[in-house]
Amino acid sequence: MANTILIGAQWGDEGKGKIIDVLTANSDIVVRSQGGNNAGHTVIHRGTKYVLHLIPSGILRRGKTCVIGNGVVIDPIALVVEIEGLQKMGIAVGKNLLISDCAHLVLPYHRMLDEHREILKGHAKIGTTKRGIGPAYGDKAARTGLRMCDLMQPELFSKKLQAKIRENNSILEAFGAKPISFRKVNDSYLEAGEKLRPYVANTVVWLHRALQRGKRILFEGAQGTFLDIDHGTYPYVTSSNTTAGGACTGSGVPPHRMDVVLGVVKAYTTRVGEGALPTEDAGLSAMLHGMGREFGATTGRARRCGWFDAVAARYAGMINGIDELAITNLDGLDSVKTIRVCVAYKLDGKRLDVPPSDAARLERCEPVYEEMRGWNRPTHHTKEFTQLPAAAKDYVRVLSAMTGAKLTVVSVGPARGQTIIL
Ligand code: GDP
Ligand code: IMO
Ligand code: MG
Repeated sequence: MANTILIGAQWGDEGKGKIIDVLTANSDIVVRSQGGNNAGHTVIHRGTKYVLHLIPSGILRRGKTCVIGNGVVIDPIALVVEIEGLQKMGIAVGKNLLISDCAHLVLPYHRMLDEHREILKGHAKIGTTKRGIGPAYGDKAARTGLRMCDLMQPELFSKKLQAKIRENNSILEAFGAKPISFRKVNDSYLEAGEKLRPYVANTVVWLHRALQRGKRILFEGAQGTFLDIDHGTYPYVTSSNTTAGGACTGSGVPPHRMDVVLGVVKAYTTRVGEGALPTEDAGLSAMLHGMGREFGATTGRARRCGWFDAVAARYAGMINGIDELAITNLDGLDSVKTIRVCVAYKLDGKRLDVPPSDAARLERCEPVYEEMRGWNRPTHHTKEFTQLPAAAKDYVRVLSAMTGAKLTVVSVGPARGQTIIL
């Protein structure tokens, strides 16, 4: 398999983890290049459910190397918990994991600031995962962040941390929050740092050498296109570039080494957190939640659900340069009699083919729907595209045509085997 950038083409939780796990079979290396433990990627492996937050979803396959790139923000304590959790479940984590020495650290004051800023925003809150992602990327951009390479030098780390805690305690006090103890944070972070030391490397050089040896790389996007800090529904976004370009900046692998961009979409739309979701539909949400589906893998929050939004998908195709499309959760629509697809938005009497850039205008957009008949048959046992009901085949073909990408994967269940490769 060529070097592939896999991205979420909606609002996150498209089923990226499942598709990465399937595609890792034909790759050598899986790289995370942005986001942090706000991500929750679900993989079912031998009947057991794994939720990966910082470690690439390729970790469940033997003989593959997983890389956490420079663009990821790492909570070292959460990463140690994740590594040890996998090891307890019998998954080998050792020489098959590398962590960039340039990755920025998430510290306790980032999490506290995330929480307090959300409280201050009241009704205008973003609905973050409260993992400290925004404040950590904020420090990175302000050039005041601490990185993995700092953590590897205990004396230097402690000195920098002391100054950062002093600064952030004064901010936390203004929020009426309890100050943070330098000693406690310093001890726990240095302890986690020692556990992570064997994995830390210059991953840029390592990846370049791997490319020279002809290794095939899969770039695992986190979040989704409309949560991108530049191209998403700002300010209701995350703080990194979740779109295809983020794979280059967040790994140090140059654009000309990338071969394919694979976009992952659900057969419908979901969003967790605040912000506009033009096709949101209470009936569809109730149906999916009633089936026990669409609860967040990281925070457990119920995801908001809606019909497939082709306006958004087309725009995602543009930004990411999506060559190939994977459609997941097709089985979620198995019992829907009439399926709606949003083909345009209506705003102030005008028809829009691309989403407006500002959140307030997007909030006022009305979806223009086309209807398609459902197939009313279970699809979760389907192994071949030809075996899908005719209406299901029509539906996925329409979605890929509207997105402007070649349909290559259809997923009809969470397990590896429930995947149709075209
Ligand atoms: P990610 O963040 O993009 O990796 O997606 P999540 O893991 O957060 O959410 C996707 C959910 O859908 C998980 O519970 C997956 O196990 C599940 N899933 C993925 N593909 C399919 C599918 O085709 N059918 C069903 N029923 N579930 C799926
Ligand atoms: P995966 O990789 C879905 C959302 C949050 C919130 C906004 C900002 O599993 O698809 P943040 O904590 O990043 O500052 O929150 O982004 N969000 C996600 N939604 N899937 C994710 O990751 C998400 N990561 C962040 O709900 O709306
Ligand atoms: Mg998720």
